[in-house]
Amino acid sequence: MSVIEEIRRLKEEKNAVILAHYYVPDEVQEIADYIGDSYYLSKAAQKTDADIIVFCGVKFMGESAAILNPEKKVLMPDMAADCAMAHMVQLEKIREMREKYEDLAVVCYINSTAEIKTCSDVCVTSANAVKIVKNLPNQNIFFIPDGNLGRYVAEQVPEKNVILNDGCCPIHAAMSAEAVKREKEKHPEAKFLVHPECTGELLELADYIGSTSGIIDFVAGDEGKEYIIGTEVGVLYELKKQNPDKNFYILSDNQICADMKLVTLEKVLEVLKQETNEVKVTEKVRIQAGAPLEKMLMLAK
Ligand code: 13P
Ligand code: SF4
Repeated sequence: MSVIEEIRRLKEEKNAVILAHYYVPDEVQEIADYIGDSYYLSKAAQKTDADIIVFCGVKFMGESAAILNPEKKVLMPDMAADCAMAHMVQLEKIREMREKYEDLAVVCYINSTAEIKTCSDVCVTSANAVKIVKNLPNQNIFFIPDGNLGRYVAEQVPEKNVILNDGCCPIHAAMSAEAVKREKEKHPEAKFLVHPECTGELLELADYIGSTSGIIDFVAGDEGKEYIIGTEVGVLYELKKQNPDKNFYILSDNQICADMKLVTLEKVLEVLKQETNEVKVTEKVRIQAGAPLEKMLMLAK
């Protein structure tokens, strides 16, 4: 039996589902039951009636699924797959800001550790951050950990005082405006689609700014034929699958999240077989980090 056949057999036998982010390797996306961006996956994890969720993504994603679904077993193919940005804010800084501003809302990008979430008021993803911040009653917002997404939100919601943190995604932040200009010169008809984790310089050149699902949906509804992609290359799998007649260009060979690529079919099979790598959080963390996640799901509706 091939690895894929065995994964399918075990999934059925154990009532398991596979959730995958668009950045994991193509062959893993291919066997997933649900593929999506962080927001979609957090909702999918809640809706499924499976007993086991195999979460193909990085740690904060599996952790969020486990926090939102205490009755389900959440397994991660590789426990070392982590998001560098998830750690880029100090708890001390949050305390400092809370002391400084009485009405402060700590808005936490889902790309953060469970510990950081326990100190936050509401979580957001790149797909719903603007909507949620706009509708909060608070005037002062401390946006953590991503300074780039925070700056983008601040621009979209100028009526609020959005305090920025200096965290960033090393992969998105390294994409350069020069590379965008070079690709635009080579492909003058191509539209530039970018993730808000990129720098402001890149966002200024964009024809569309949005989450990974937002980028995929934009292409689906657009009449153009050529696109320059300003996010991790994993999205190309779905883009090409949905649009075999369109052309996609990248900015460099470094648009790769090495942690997402740690997820392999062999590791998916192994955790399904052995039921190892279960994501566990303490009851205290589940309750305290669950509150801002639940609030996100309610406010983003
Ligand atoms: P999405 O919100 O688009 O899924 O982005 C998650 C992420 O890790 C981007 O780097
Ligand atoms: Fe984190 Fe960046 Fe990887 Fe997304 S691409 S998981 S933000 S390191």
